[in-house]
Amino acid sequence: MGSTRAGRVCPQVAAWVAQVGREHTTLEYEIVDLADWSLPADDEPAIPALGPYAQAHTRAWSEKIQRADALVFVAPQFNWGYPAALKNAIDHLYSEWRDKPLAIVTYGGHGGTRCAKQLRQVAASLHMRIVSAAPALALSDAVIREGAALEPARDFQAQQPSLRRALLQLQMLVEGRERGPARLWRRLKTTFFALR
Ligand SMILES: Cc1cc2nc3c(=O)[nH]c(=O)nc-3n(C[C@H](O)[C@H](O)[C@H](O)COP(=O)(O)O)c2cc1C
Repeated sequence: MGSTRAGRVCPQVAAWVAQVGREHTTLEYEIVDLADWSLPADDEPAIPALGPYAQAHTRAWSEKIQRADALVFVAPQFNWGYPAALKNAIDHLYSEWRDKPLAIVTYGGHGGTRCAKQLRQVAASLHMRIVSAAPALALSDAVIREGAALEPARDFQAQQPSLRRALLQLQMLVEGRERGPARLWRRLKTTFFALR
């Protein structure tokens, strides 16, 4: 969950994403709440890419991410970007993200497409394997400005097919069944790394 904000709707959005995933894929879903993780900003003396990690919470976070076969970032758009808590959680680690299949699910007034673009760029720099489908869940003005209750199954009905596609693509990556250019590129990359 990319938002740790007081009064956030992220838990409802993430629960719905997991529910759709359980209904349409064979993957297991665990919701990870960054609010439950004590990851103070900038408390690692070494660059994460070089290690080692000095803090016990960073080592625990590292193990958590290593254990996942794939990841789904569920993140709101904040000022055309994504929340600092998510950036901080990403930046605490480095090699753990490499090659992890990733689906990026964003939400916001217009679905959070700018937030998705930024996350995609950061994930690409970490060599994550990002699915092409990009569900952008549109929040109504009533939810954003008036605190109206969010009902994901109703409010995000139009984006449900895109979410389903993203999670099915994620499953294909986990199972090594990606097709077309993505598969060719992965093979080339693997060969390249093998030759280096
Ligand atoms: C600091 C802040 C900045 C925001 N910026 C944007 C924005 O640029 N575009 C947008 O569509 N919504 C924006 N919103 C609205 C959020 O997308 C909306 O409040 C959403 O519910 C936030 O997710 P959360 O409730 O899980 O924290 C912003 C909200 C906050 C708190």
